[in-house]
Amino acid sequence: ETVYLKDYKPFGYVVDSVHLTFDLAPNATRVTSRIAFSPNPEAEDRTFFLFGEKLKLIRATIDGKDITPEITPEGLTAAAPDAPFIWEAEVEIDPAGNTALEGLYMSNGMYCTQCEAEGFRKITYYPDRPDVMSVFTVRINGDLPVLLSNGNPTGQGEGWAEWHDPWPKPSYLFALVAGDLVATEDSFPTISGQEVALKLWVRPGDEHKTAFGMEALKKSMKWDEDSYGREYDLKVFNIVAVDDFNMGAMENKGLNIFNSSCVLASPDTSTDMNFERIEAIIAHEYFHNWTGDRITCRDWFQLCLKEGLTVFRDSQFTADMRSAPVKRIHDVIDLRTRQFPEDNGPLSHPVRPESFQEINNFYTATVYEKGAEVIGMLKRLVGDAAYAEALDLYFARHDGQACTIEDWLKVFEDVTGRDLTQFKRWYSQSGTPRVKVTEDWADGTYTLSFEQTTLPTPGQPEKLPQVLPIAVGLIGPNGDELLETTVLEMTEAKQSFSFDGLPARPVPSILRGFSAPVILERESTNSERAFLLAHDTDPFNRWEAGRALAQDTLLKMATGTTDPDADYLDGLRALMRDETLDPAYRALMLGLPGQAELAGLLADRGVTPDPMAIWQAVEHLRDAQAQALGPLLEELYEANQVTDPYQPDAEQSGKRALAGALLRLITRRDGGARASALYAAADNMTLTLTALSCLLQAGQGGAELAAFYDKWKDDRLVIDKWFMLQIAEAAPERAVSVAQALTEHPDFNWRNPNRFRAVFGALSANHAGFHDATGAGYQLLADWLIRLDPLNPQTTARMCTAFQTWKRYDPARQAKIAVELDRIATTPDLSRDTSEMISRIRGA
Ligand code: ARG
Ligand code: ZN
Repeated sequence: ETVYLKDYKPFGYVVDSVHLTFDLAPNATRVTSRIAFSPNPEAEDRTFFLFGEKLKLIRATIDGKDITPEITPEGLTAAAPDAPFIWEAEVEIDPAGNTALEGLYMSNGMYCTQCEAEGFRKITYYPDRPDVMSVFTVRINGDLPVLLSNGNPTGQGEGWAEWHDPWPKPSYLFALVAGDLVATEDSFPTISGQEVALKLWVRPGDEHKTAFGMEALKKSMKWDEDSYGREYDLKVFNIVAVDDFNMGAMENKGLNIFNSSCVLASPDTSTDMNFERIEAIIAHEYFHNWTGDRITCRDWFQLCLKEGLTVFRDSQFTADMRSAPVKRIHDVIDLRTRQFPEDNGPLSHPVRPESFQEINNFYTATVYEKGAEVIGMLKRLVGDAAYAEALDLYFARHDGQACTIEDWLKVFEDVTGRDLTQFKRWYSQSGTPRVKVTEDWADGTYTLSFEQTTLPTPGQPEKLPQVLPIAVGLIGPNGDELLETTVLEMTEAKQSFSFDGLPARPVPSILRGFSAPVILERESTNSERAFLLAHDTDPFNRWEAGRALAQDTLLKMATGTTDPDADYLDGLRALMRDETLDPAYRALMLGLPGQAELAGLLADRGVTPDPMAIWQAVEHLRDAQAQALGPLLEELYEANQVTDPYQPDAEQSGKRALAGALLRLITRRDGGARASALYAAADNMTLTLTALSCLLQAGQGGAELAAFYDKWKDDRLVIDKWFMLQIAEAAPERAVSVAQALTEHPDFNWRNPNRFRAVFGALSANHAGFHDATGAGYQLLADWLIRLDPLNPQTTARMCTAFQTWKRYDPARQAKIAVELDRIATTPDLSRDTSEMISRIRGA
């Protein structure tokens, strides 16, 4: 059941070409395949095994002769010649009955596919593994106006279309879409002068939501040419929006398929955050054309090869399109919210895992986001020029191949002459390194000493030192920078670095730009943090200093009865007044660490977190912020109104983010008067939701919620927000009952992953609400996981992560969670996906 990296063996045959014919019918689609195989000289084992699941085999032939293969639920085995041969098979599948949304399925009358990671085997018998690459020709017969597949169109007529993809690809990049769709069309001239037809396909009625996605696509194509020298390589690029989709989006060659929530946008229906995310996801999928499609993964253990790199690339893109410091801060907040709990809990796994039961469970924040951090560190260590050279070599050397992390690191070794053996531990060791810092000052010499340790993680009791690029700057007592950002390369368990000739003892600014994904542990004082908040030249660390102040005061407040720290409130007031800081940055400064993050920090310090006490501490500090900023709130709120027509760009979004954060504080003082006024006046979704969430927080907004529902009841994506917001903004003691009531709402289409996540994602993110001492939150979630699992294992398994931090809490809560985990684990016929997740979470 468990697959291991160390067991990799190439497939016994190569696939020279693939021809597929689809005769579409909702419950009985025929798939006819004609595949040219020949023996693989690189392989020893010639077993002819083809993966295939939930397929009804009608007939199979080898070189035209009928055969009777041996069939199991996983696939078939046949006797094959030790010479080139033609395999032909006809199977029947049931797209309309496919609720798992993997393979070929139907969403709102439209046929679509999701093959990554192992969905193609639900379409036909095939060596469904990423190292088997081939050229695909596809014919679709179906009574639908639009019939799409990968590559270039080669012919079409009434009820049929043919496609040919000249670029060899693994089966996980196969895609097919058929339906009644309309396209927004545009074109892009590539750097060498090829005209590419761009089409963004949606269901009729959604056409007004495509303009932004199309612009994002063109920007992405241009950026990849300018920044990485990557040109697009087909005559057409198709994007399709699908309402029922397990993940965000998928980079199928020439035919990207998106969860409609990750591509459709309009000012009326989408928030600034939606726009920014959509721009990033369009870029991400587009960038996969080179980092994923042209160069793919040898096996699924290498997933970070394409995902870490592509996330890193899309972050660079967003930094270039918007504000680099703001993007960096957002990424670090996200890493601490999603990746740190994973890396430091029962689901901890290396960026390149060494075993799995169900690969879909490893599309994680560790593989994606920590994977991207690892590339950022590599770039910092070798420098920008060597990074660019290494990437050029990677593309030149490995185009058309299915590669490994070893191949990736080798291009850096070849370009720089560095030995990356130790650096490679970032791919094999799980857990977040903790770095303790101490310092010394004598005779003009300042010494920083670091000690790194990584706690044991599942399967890895012992850890070795990792290579840490630690970016530091030194600031003099009067606020001048004495040492500009310098990267210290730490390789030992303990290591010191000295700086001499300094006029006075400096204040260190350590881990600038969050140069390594570690937990920094350093004794500091609030006055020193306040000093950095005022003087640090590194925008990330300046924000971090404010964050540390807020965190310190919240942790004290959550465990005692201390008042909010004056240094923090004074520093905050000074920053809010600083007109040289852009509004987006000031909005981030008003932000507080999340309640789950605070719970994790307490647990780390050996204190059992009390979710209600944390909630109260945050409430108290919010009140204190409102109090401390006083009349400045209104003044800044007025100063940050956008008067120009709505644009989802960085500048306007920044102003709205700041004004929104201020309005939340104003609402604490005026009881909701201004928020009501804003709700009435709002002419875009960002302002509407800002106003509505302020009202809900103030215990109001009933009438507005009802009006909102009436206005938007026909827009699924907006109604997802309506579900989500009510649970997110519910006070802790109400959250579970609000969520429970919403599961009885006629619009709770729980088979739709977006709707399911709107409710249960919001519930599990309402920290004090989910961890309600009665255990009602745990029970409600478990009930619905048990209900969804037989239909959609992937979405169920993913939502199990809500329980991953359970060992942090008190024995009573742990006992209640254990009951639910057991109840899920003992459900008859539980999917492989969910049972793997639950058993890892339980630590069994
Ligand atoms: N490769 C896609 C992306 O990152 C994600 C697809 C994951 N799908 C899955 N079923 N695990 O853009
Ligand atoms: Zn990706």
